[in-house]
Amino acid sequence: MARILDGKVINQQILDELKPRIAHLTSARRAPGLVVILVGNDPASEIYVRNKVKTCLELGVHSEEIRLPDTTTTAELLAHIETLNQRPAIDGILVQMPLPKQVDSRAVLLAIRPDKDVDGFHPFNVGQLVANAPAPRSCTPAGVMEILRRSGIDPAGSDAVVVGRSDIVGKPMAMLLLHAHATVTICHSKTQNLPEVCKRAQILVAAIGRPAMLTAEYIRPGAVVIDVGMNRVSSRPEAERITRGDAEKLARFEKRGSLLVGDVHPLDMAELSEAYTPVPGGVGLLTIAMLMSNTVQSAEHRLK
Ligand code: GUN
Repeated sequence: MARILDGKVINQQILDELKPRIAHLTSARRAPGLVVILVGNDPASEIYVRNKVKTCLELGVHSEEIRLPDTTTTAELLAHIETLNQRPAIDGILVQMPLPKQVDSRAVLLAIRPDKDVDGFHPFNVGQLVANAPAPRSCTPAGVMEILRRSGIDPAGSDAVVVGRSDIVGKPMAMLLLHAHATVTICHSKTQNLPEVCKRAQILVAAIGRPAMLTAEYIRPGAVVIDVGMNRVSSRPEAERITRGDAEKLARFEKRGSLLVGDVHPLDMAELSEAYTPVPGGVGLLTIAMLMSNTVQSAEHRLK
């Protein structure tokens, strides 16, 4: 039986460890402060932002939300960031991605003060990551490393395969695994013989955004499988493929009109792996925990 790497439990551990640090900061000077900027009204982004603000409230982190219309220009967004860069009570600035296409995302990421960049997306912080030097780390890959560490899985010497090469997940994930002494392969849409390459992985990380794409022929028996995907499936044939006709799961799909699924086929992952992160209830929860951790660390740095 595969071990389920439970994101809920690890999320709670991380948040519980942050509470005394937040209490100390609050009594020493002030609560940590985070501003989330959301441009436009992408439904997935709305949910992320709502959950971020909710977690801040639960932990006693001061949070502010700036909502801007999807017609916002680069200059307008930069003006907001400049104000936040100067405000002493703000430790973290997060601009929710993706941004509307008229906005120059790179200029936006460059404008955020690196020591307030709680996403770890600023080119300076990306450089620090490559150099294995201290800096905020991209939250989702940092969350994956916490899952591995807290589950007693040491990547040193393992063959790790990361599927996906995004700036937010794939690239920083590969770098963190490399620093943890894994032998790392990064795969993407042009990779030849993808199933064969994935099947060599002792640690397989899927971050491609394709529902249940990695099936049995991609999974090495006994592998640790980390599924970063979060895909909403609303087609009936797809739901049948993913549930393999399980009547109970299909009934739930019919009732809700959709199914939330990762990038790895959930039944194959449960059957073949030694340990895996479920979707939902796996990696997704950790992204916000690591954002809180980065915000607290930034506030502690400022208190020194
Ligand atoms: N969009 C998807 N994931 C993230 C994230 O971790 N941070 C930001 N800012 N935007 C995202």
